[in-house]
Amino acid sequence: MIYQTFAKVSLVSRSKIKVAVLGVGNCASSLVQGLEYYKNDDTENGLISDVIGGYKVSDIEIVAAFDINKEKVGIDLSEAIFKEPNNTSKFSEVSKLNIEVKPGKTLDGVGKFVEDKIPLVDDSDKVIDELIESNAEILVNLLPVGSEEAVKYYAECAIKAKVGFINCIPVFIARDKEWYKKFKDNNVPLIGDDIKSQVGATIVHRALAQLFSDRGIELKRSYQLNVGGNMDFLNMLEEDRLETKRTSKTSSVTSVANKGKGMDPDNVRIGPSDYVKWLEDRKKAFIRLEGEAFGGVPLNIEVQLEVWDSPNSAGVVIDAIRYMKFFTDKKDLDSLDLVSAWLMKAPAKTSKDTDTLNKLHELTHQEN
Ligand SMILES: NC(=O)c1ccc[n+]([C@@H]2O[C@H](COP(=O)([O-])OP(=O)(O)OC[C@H]3O[C@@H](n4cnc5c(N)ncnc54)[C@H](O)[C@@H]3O)[C@@H](O)[C@H]2O)c1
Repeated sequence: MIYQTFAKVSLVSRSKIKVAVLGVGNCASSLVQGLEYYKNDDTENGLISDVIGGYKVSDIEIVAAFDINKEKVGIDLSEAIFKEPNNTSKFSEVSKLNIEVKPGKTLDGVGKFVEDKIPLVDDSDKVIDELIESNAEILVNLLPVGSEEAVKYYAECAIKAKVGFINCIPVFIARDKEWYKKFKDNNVPLIGDDIKSQVGATIVHRALAQLFSDRGIELKRSYQLNVGGNMDFLNMLEEDRLETKRTSKTSSVTSVANKGKGMDPDNVRIGPSDYVKWLEDRKKAFIRLEGEAFGGVPLNIEVQLEVWDSPNSAGVVIDAIRYMKFFTDKKDLDSLDLVSAWLMKAPAKTSKDTDTLNKLHELTHQEN
């Protein structure tokens, strides 16, 4: 069973997990709202895992945040998360956090379709110092798609500040051999790349591709066309920024297709397909799989999915944070590759979801 909830374990008293957020957009908004929503531990509804390695969601604390939008920088994070152009669902009030959003370095973070919506602050060179002063243990990267230079700049900052890096976006760091080695050589924890959604288009598509494979249906052709109305979708109109996003989403599906044999690239099209402003942070996915069943006869599946995009990612980010803390404390950074395989679309090493989850379950329950 893939979506297994972790059993309740006895909780020891542990220190909070100190997290810095990079990019105060919709995903950061959902993450911060979620920490508020689950802070009293009075519900487990909506969580994949209530406890991971002894850590509850309420054990996560934001200690720093960075952005380059003048409207978001210099104000409390509790206010910044609701500033335009953010437009995700407001599902929780957030009281003052006493975390001032600090300026970062823009580099290539702002694409041509969104630049008129983002007034810029002056660049800062203090990111490393601020990470150290905030006592952050983990930096969660939530920059826009296509921010190649910016992600690499902040990844370097994380290494220098000795802060773990969770790369939620499809700029390849964990998948890039040199960067992967750089984190390993410096003994800095790394999870990446490109966070999966809790139940998003990729996982539904992947599960259907796996079903075809398990039941002997040859997957011949497939598409997954996604539309949405947030900044992420507006930014992704720029096809040049999208290459790694397409690779990441496509490989997540084709890697399980046809018993691992994959598919002819000409017969697969997966990725963001248009910006529909009135959808706001809702995303619609149109998924089609065309296969050949017993005797070569056709068997097709067509599915539509509608989700709020950003809360869907936050539900997975809170798990990545807790796994990183748990394995870092155990000085077992190698197991973070398993976490990436479970939670990320483009991990350095892939494995079958059920095997990965069972192994993680075993490792995180040994000590509780
Ligand atoms: N389900 C999901 O929503 C999901 C799933 C997987 C990956 N992602 C990825 O997560 C990322 C964040 O998504 P989002 O919807 O929050 O995007 P967003 O555009 O709402 O937020 C990005 C934020 O980063 C800031 N920013 C841009 N350049 C910066 C820089 N150089 N330094 C600091 N801040 C900078 C922007 O001002 C903005 O506040 C995207 O890359 C998206 O593709 C999202």
